Amino acid sequence: MSNIFLIGFMGCGKSTVAVELQKLYELQMCEMDQMIVDKAQMDIPQIFEVYGESYFRDLETEVLNDICKCVGQVVSCGGGIVLREINVSKIKECGSIVLLTARPETILARVGNDNNRPILKDKKNIKDISELMEKRQEKYIKAADVVVETDDKSVREICEEIIDKLNKRGA
Ligand code: S3P
Repeated sequence: MSNIFLIGFMGCGKSTVAVELQKLYELQMCEMDQMIVDKAQMDIPQIFEVYGESYFRDLETEVLNDICKCVGQVVSCGGGIVLREINVSKIKECGSIVLLTARPETILARVGNDNNRPILKDKKNIKDISELMEKRQEKYIKAADVVVETDDKSVREICEEIIDKLNKRGA
């Protein structure tokens, strides 16, 4: 197996699913956001506040390039990874791409109390989340090899569906 990249909107369950996939299939796990925090020695809201979003996106691309030097990993990507075409080309080269989706209501329930996502600052409502999801949807779909809906499913069910769909593609 090369790598499995989990992509999707904030709160769609990438980190939770990555932890389970790591356990089930003895993969190495990479949590991109954490790697960015480690590299910058600052938390994500601070990076956005002090240096701005494009600096964060540069770090994201750098971390991705480091990750792509190895194989056998499940990678929980930041929700904005698809915003740069260069990132999408890179993950396509280095593994299989799984898009996790969730309804805006589910996303809101999952991120509602979280203040670690600057993109959702003052946007924690169905209308704003739906709009942002809509804006990004085409990029997510274009990047994905397989798509797995996460609403109303257990983490184990989601993992089994991911592996089943990847196997069917011959990944
Ligand atoms: C972002 C998603 C976040 C994090 C940053 C920006 C985005 O990751 O990378 O706050 O633009 O969608 P999660 O999807 O893991 O929350």
